[in-house]
Amino acid sequence: MYKLFFRLLFTRMDPEQAHHLAFRWIRLAARVPVLRTFLAAALAPRHQELRTEALGLRMHGPFGLAAGFDKNAVAIDGMAMLGFDHVEIGTVTGEPQPGNPRKRLFRLVADRALINRMGFNNDGSAAVAERLHARVPVFRTVVGVNIGKTKVVPEAEAAADYVKSTERLARHADYLVVNVSSPNTPGLRNLQATKSLRPLLTAVREAADRTVTDRRVPLLVKIAPDLADEDVDAVADLAVELGLDGIIATNTTIAREGLTSPAHLTAETGGLSGAPLKERSLEVLRRLYARVGDRITLVGVGGIENAEDAWQRILAGATLIQGYSAFVYQGPFYARGIHKGLAARLNASPYATLAEAVGADTRKAAV
Ligand SMILES: Cc1cc2nc3c(=O)[nH]c(=O)nc-3n(C[C@H](O)[C@H](O)[C@H](O)COP(=O)(O)O)c2cc1C
Repeated sequence: MYKLFFRLLFTRMDPEQAHHLAFRWIRLAARVPVLRTFLAAALAPRHQELRTEALGLRMHGPFGLAAGFDKNAVAIDGMAMLGFDHVEIGTVTGEPQPGNPRKRLFRLVADRALINRMGFNNDGSAAVAERLHARVPVFRTVVGVNIGKTKVVPEAEAAADYVKSTERLARHADYLVVNVSSPNTPGLRNLQATKSLRPLLTAVREAADRTVTDRRVPLLVKIAPDLADEDVDAVADLAVELGLDGIIATNTTIAREGLTSPAHLTAETGGLSGAPLKERSLEVLRRLYARVGDRITLVGVGGIENAEDAWQRILAGATLIQGYSAFVYQGPFYARGIHKGLAARLNASPYATLAEAVGADTRKAAV
């Protein structure tokens, strides 16, 4: 039914408008107690065996909503209602900004992919912090806060912008993510070079510790799939050196190989996500796990369409996994399908728990 609905409504509508419409429905449904309870029971059934502990946090399962869908933290309960075990809000920037001019989101249906150049359109750290502070949670779900650089802030002053966001947002975050990997903010990805990344992550860590004194807020960094292998290794080593809690792999890619959609679409500037990203994201994840093992929590994201993809990420080394693009294509049953299939795979595997399965394939390959 969703597929038919998708075809009728979404293919005729501008993708960003369709996003806002679907988003409004999710938020509305989450506000009606009977509907919310019914939908959560149908779409977010709990599989005991998928219970996950990561980053010092307890979750119903390993599967979360990737950053960019709920940029302003307005639909956390709605997304939990649809079965996401954690919700990463943002990217939030120090100051509010409108993002790039429209049109800035494109559907590559034949490739089960999206291209976006949203450019961190968001309400800014002060407004989002206020919203999170005022939030009365309906569902107990883990909330990650993903922060990035305000566009007008020069690269040399980036750290101060991230620190501003940290000071406002860290206390509301179950975990904090430093995003240095969006292709849509000029110069942002240069911050992945260890020379820039070390002082940036150190400054954010210090700001989080200064503003949140009753617990240690887990800090992660989100990286691009377009990094050269040696640079992936360098970020992994830096993360260990700085005592970072996690790495999220990966953001969208600027690569365009192997696409079958019409050239006018594939030529659009921006980050490509969805199925074509699957292979490279998995490769980066494997490389990271081979380098850091269990010392750092790895989060696998990029082209996860089904339970098999999710399972492969866990075997490769991911403790947590996330999705975005496939949710757009598959709709409200997306998370349910992943949970059901993951539970079945775990039960049929030699592993007693998900934690035991994490990295099993990468470890085997190394022997
Ligand atoms: C429209 C759109 C907006 C996004 N915005 C952000 C963002 O603000 N911050 C971020 O870290 N990632 C953002 N992402 C990247 C996703 O979080 C994710 O890393 C990427 O899409 C790969 O996952 P997927 O293939 O499941 O979509 C965005 C992705 C899309 C499609």
